Amino acid sequence: MDHVAVYPGSFDPMTNGHIEIVNRSKALFDEVHIGILRHPQKQSLFTVEERIEMIGEIYVDMPEVTVQAFEGLLVDFAASVGAQAIIRGLRAATDFEYELQMALMNRRLQDRIETLFMVPHEEFTFVSSSLVKEVFSLGGSISGLVPPSVEELMAAKIRGHKEGN
Ligand code: PNS
Repeated sequence: MDHVAVYPGSFDPMTNGHIEIVNRSKALFDEVHIGILRHPQKQSLFTVEERIEMIGEIYVDMPEVTVQAFEGLLVDFAASVGAQAIIRGLRAATDFEYELQMALMNRRLQDRIETLFMVPHEEFTFVSSSLVKEVFSLGGSISGLVPPSVEELMAAKIRGHKEGN
């Protein structure tokens, strides 16, 4: 039986912390399906399609890692790709309460799918998509926190915003 996991999130944008979790997951699972939640009410820097392209480029040479959008319940997305596990990264104790609530709710909805918490390298424990966006938009360096391709896309996006596009 293939071991299949989903790694869900907003990924707005994908950070090196996320990438590390995918790399660690690849060592345990035959397939890792990155799922981007389609969340019409939530403001985002990148559209879901832009995020799919951004992440797809990072994993272009790794067919075992795929990326797609999902709507509705995470457990339904997980079941649709045949996943036995949901991966979530835990950076600090502050992540834990929300993650525990989600894991218990997801278990109630779909008992057969396990939530697996993975801990990124300590150099990424302070990295979050929202902080990366804030620092970058204020002119700070995010080098080493996101892949160079993402940094370029962010620069182009923020230039576009400043030009009023
Ligand atoms: O990276 P994020 O934004 O913290 O990811 C949150 C995500 C996408 C994992 C979560 O919001 C989610 O699973 N949403 C799907 C809706 C759902 O299944 N809700 C019930 C689960 S508690």
